[in-house]
Amino acid sequence: MDTKLLRKTGLSLDREELMVNETLFHNANGYLGVRSNFEEGVPEGVGSIRGEYLNGFYDFADMPQAEKLCGLCEEKQTMLNIADTQTIFLSVDGETFSLFGGEVLESARELDMARGVTRRTVSWKSTQGAAVTVDVTRMASFAMLPLFTIEYRVTAQSDCTLRFSSLHIGSVKNYCDPTDPRLAAEAPQYLHAAPAAISGGASFVTAHTTKSGLSVTSAVKNVLSVPAEESLRAEGSSAEYTAAVSVKAGESVTLTKYTVLCDSVRYDDCRAEAEHLLAQAVSVPLSDWYGKQKAYLDQYWETCAVQVEGDDDLSRAVTYNLYQLIQSVGKDPHSNIAAKGLSGEGYEGHYFWDTEMYMLPFFSLTRPDIARNLIEYRHTILPYARENARILGHKKGALYAWRTIMGKECSGYFPSGSAQYHIDGDIAYSIISYYLLTKDVDFLAKTGAEIVCETARLWIDAGSWYKGTFRINDVTGPDEYTCIVNNNYYTNCLAKYNLDWACKFCAILEKAGKLAPLAEKIGLTQEELDEFRRASDAMYLPYDEELDLNPQDDSFLTKKVWDLAATPKEDFPLLLHYHPLYLYRFQVCKQADTVLSHFVMEDYQKLSTMRHSFAYYEKVTTHDSSLSTCIFSIMASRLGMPEKAYDYFGESSKLDLFNTHHNTKDGIHTANMGGTYMAIVYGFGGLRVKESGLCLAPALPAGWTSYRFRVRYEDALIGVRVTKDGGELTLCEGSPKELFLYGKPVTLDKTLPFALNPDWGKE
Ligand code: BGC
Repeated sequence: MDTKLLRKTGLSLDREELMVNETLFHNANGYLGVRSNFEEGVPEGVGSIRGEYLNGFYDFADMPQAEKLCGLCEEKQTMLNIADTQTIFLSVDGETFSLFGGEVLESARELDMARGVTRRTVSWKSTQGAAVTVDVTRMASFAMLPLFTIEYRVTAQSDCTLRFSSLHIGSVKNYCDPTDPRLAAEAPQYLHAAPAAISGGASFVTAHTTKSGLSVTSAVKNVLSVPAEESLRAEGSSAEYTAAVSVKAGESVTLTKYTVLCDSVRYDDCRAEAEHLLAQAVSVPLSDWYGKQKAYLDQYWETCAVQVEGDDDLSRAVTYNLYQLIQSVGKDPHSNIAAKGLSGEGYEGHYFWDTEMYMLPFFSLTRPDIARNLIEYRHTILPYARENARILGHKKGALYAWRTIMGKECSGYFPSGSAQYHIDGDIAYSIISYYLLTKDVDFLAKTGAEIVCETARLWIDAGSWYKGTFRINDVTGPDEYTCIVNNNYYTNCLAKYNLDWACKFCAILEKAGKLAPLAEKIGLTQEELDEFRRASDAMYLPYDEELDLNPQDDSFLTKKVWDLAATPKEDFPLLLHYHPLYLYRFQVCKQADTVLSHFVMEDYQKLSTMRHSFAYYEKVTTHDSSLSTCIFSIMASRLGMPEKAYDYFGESSKLDLFNTHHNTKDGIHTANMGGTYMAIVYGFGGLRVKESGLCLAPALPAGWTSYRFRVRYEDALIGVRVTKDGGELTLCEGSPKELFLYGKPVTLDKTLPFALNPDWGKE
């Protein structure tokens, strides 16, 4: 069975399903993303979110606060729908092709993850009896990021006349839904398109944002495979290409539509660059671009694939999730990974902590070049993080925006937005992990250490000393159903780690003779470093002796326990049905919080404390956030509960394919997709990245025959294969490594067979 092929057959015109499929089959390459809308559109009133987006391209939008308190955020950034270059109308003997008219004889769509294309096939008969098969192949090119292609082939099943009308619509708006807090409430005209221009048989539209001062050019060229009567006309900010041709039964005609999108975030002269790239795109056969696409993905899967034998559906779901990660991740320091990738408008294209805690681990382990880029992005927005810290009253340090595109804060509701200071610790954590995997001291000197020192400074400014302990009051942890609390366990753990590693990084740079430029640049003193050390060592981590668990914060255990069993199914997610303040007074969690701390900071606690905490939080967690089940899966693995781990993993891996959160129409859940990877590699594989080295403790879920994955560690590429009888580690590239297997040191110099340890996590 081909697990790199996702195929759906049959015709469903169900509103919700149509929109979910637009998301699931979208094409993206980290720079541009195009939803899988039907070229011919859908009738008015039938659900569709039609969109083409660029990662990191935005306008500013007003976000007025009803009460103008000091420092509240009054403006946000929003990712824009750029243009509509998808539309192609086909008429067959004068009748317009549509899934909503005539007769659909066959219909299928697929995503080919080996070749990096989507396909849609429809066999259709008009009401007059003319029959055609329409095959559409779409690609967002990895080889030329601004290029998107549609290959639209029509095969006549009876003699007929075909007429194509291919549109380039320069003036479009974003989707909105005033009833859903996760979507924009209104859709103003952010982009102002200039009149379309025709040149060299192609159309060009340049559009300017209202406030952010950005511009973008969309360029389109249509190429027909046979001679025909053709025309290309511009009207206002749109252009229309038409062609008419008579065909005999069995003959095919292909219209290839090339779109190039260039924005001013990356290009000095978008129009000139779009013209240049479009000419380059059409100068070689489309098959060449397909070849490059396949070669890119061959390489990707070679290192990044996770193969599971014994469960094809799950294996496909995992492959799907990893495919979405490479489709979503920004490939330059101007962009990051939006919570919905480039598949939809949910969360308005914003970047969150999702990147650092859920997706960067995958890239650090498999594509450190991309991981580094993601960290570089955080470095480019460091000035805004400093500015944000000042807005929140801090004299020193940097506080990253909770949600952003260009660096400034976009969260309208600060209790579950800006108050999530842990984002600083998350970013520091990802830099530390990247360093532990690569030992890249140059990167520390140029980028990493500055961020880690600035975030460390923030903790010192935000925290306070009390009876010899260092405490952090009035912040929100990852769980958004518990806001503005004292000593959130997760936040304090990450702050402790951040402060600790700021000192360690400075020591590493000092040894390498590279500390002075950084110290001078940010005015870092030895006194400050001493304070980092003291605060880290004295960080207060809430612990309840009687229950042997870590309370989520100082007040959590004093609250009433929410009765989840008695809550009607339709009340989930709770955030859509209960006032936030009401939720805050209960022990009820939206997502993994303390359980997440135990995954990332396992050495801060005893196994028994982690076990008791897991059992406790499991009972009060709704998993209303998609960032939750993967973490519970990892910790269930760690604590020797393979069946539980497997159940949670199943929920995580199928979340979008089965639309279990009922909002896949607004876009994929990229953090969860990284979480699925982590649930295998960190969960079942037991991988941890520690100062002492790389640790593995593999287990095999019942029902699986085997699984395998590869990770990069320093100069090595290490293959991990786990089977029923045991497994083996292989040094595929690089020099021998000292690793830890089930806590014991081992040397990997070629192939190292091992037996599974069924007692791991149970001791
Ligand atoms: C979660 C956050 C997350 C955001 C974006 C929210 O529902 O609670 O943790 O960062 O979604 O994915």
